[in-house]
Amino acid sequence: MSDSSDSAVGRAGGKVILLGEHAVVHGAPAIAVCLEDRTEVTARRRAGPTALEMPSWGICARVDGRALADAALAGLIDALGAPRDGLSLCGETMLPARAGLGASASIAAAAARAVSTLLGRDPSNAELHQAVQASERATHGNPSGIDAAAVLGAGVMRFSRAEGAVRLDVPPPELVIVHTGAPGDTRLTVAAFAARLAAEPIEGPRRLDSIRGIVERGVDALGRRDVAALGRLMDENQEQLAWFGVSTEALDRACAEARAAGALGAKLTGGGGGGCAIALVRPGDRRRVAARLEAAGFALVPA
Ligand code: PMV
Repeated sequence: MSDSSDSAVGRAGGKVILLGEHAVVHGAPAIAVCLEDRTEVTARRRAGPTALEMPSWGICARVDGRALADAALAGLIDALGAPRDGLSLCGETMLPARAGLGASASIAAAAARAVSTLLGRDPSNAELHQAVQASERATHGNPSGIDAAAVLGAGVMRFSRAEGAVRLDVPPPELVIVHTGAPGDTRLTVAAFAARLAAEPIEGPRRLDSIRGIVERGVDALGRRDVAALGRLMDENQEQLAWFGVSTEALDRACAEARAAGALGAKLTGGGGGGCAIALVRPGDRRRVAARLEAAGFALVPA
């Protein structure tokens, strides 16, 4: 973060969820891999209502506006105890929008850091997390908190609502990230997952428990550096997510292409319903898997 008296810069990362998305909303643990330094926001003092622009996304949010992005900004500014007047924020992100990579949380986190620095404050990580969560509640409705933790963090983490983020002392897994090209809507898929869970009172909780077990075995597999086991767990997790209705034909196809090219496992990541899939690869197979996905019409996202 850099600072001068009249402007300050904040940065934040993105994330992929290796195992456990959606179930994490319902109290299960999940594993996130942080993608560091993907978003930069500059805060300045300027007359008028506090506002945030992201020119490459076409976003221009104001604290006094009525759109979702306005409410997300207002939630952030209020949680930080920052002024609703007199701040101008402008940012850029390398993360694609609505792709399951935590872009909205990343923008909020970078903005929170920029505003804090401009105001001469040094908030704790917990305070920043709360502010990003306030913004995410406006965007997503019922965020588990994993995105906020991961965009503010580093490395690989296990996250649960009860225990928060715990960093795992393991090297990040070798992943290919691929975008299906269709946007996802996390608010809708979180609601769809919850609806299926409620509509299937025996099978739904059974599958939720199964995802919980997949995540715990995933933590073990990461610790043992057992990439083959981790890949199988990703495939199992994808089957469960598909049952809950949050995968799509394009996400299933991306996973199948990746496996056919030698990936050890593949699944959607984040909210689903579009957005990105991740494939676990051995380092020597990365180029082949990436080339096959590109040949199948998918776009790669830098991991
Ligand atoms: O789509 P994203 O990047 O916002 O990730 C959502 C992750 C979920 O587990 C589906 C929701 C949550 O709040 O944990």
